[in-house]
Amino acid sequence: MTDASNLIYVVNGPNLNLLGMREPEIYGSATLDDIAGMLEDRARELGLTIDMRQTNHEGMLVDWLHEAQAEGARAVLLNAGAYTHTSIALLDAIRAIRTPVVEVHLSDPMTREPFRHVSYVGMGAAMTVQGHGAQSYLIALDAVAQGKI
Ligand code: DQA
Repeated sequence: MTDASNLIYVVNGPNLNLLGMREPEIYGSATLDDIAGMLEDRARELGLTIDMRQTNHEGMLVDWLHEAQAEGARAVLLNAGAYTHTSIALLDAIRAIRTPVVEVHLSDPMTREPFRHVSYVGMGAAMTVQGHGAQSYLIALDAVAQGKI
């Protein structure tokens, strides 16, 4: 049985299923499966368990945030893709749950188009890790393991 206090939800939003072939000059060549593998390896070393998901649907992201709390997860690593910049529903969900959320991005949205400079997710997140490619996820996982959030 999984000890929920060691359970980390890794929730990925729209278009991240296309990682590896999607604008590799911005997002790199790793696929979401590659990232899941990297996270699982690191999680094993840290004594954590990863539950990695992806959806293209905003409401599903909200449901999964609620579920993370209901399951007693220790934290959520959330790459909400473009919903980061548009979704008040996601901000409300992050604020509605006690489970800490780490905002994760492969790219650094602050150095990109102005419409990416607003982050509703960031307004609720305990921490943001961005601009390190696939490593952003590992940095976020390490931060959770080190009790930084
Ligand atoms: C992203 C950045 C977002 O601006 C973009 O819409 C994405 C990916 C990232 O990981 O760099 O879909 O979240």
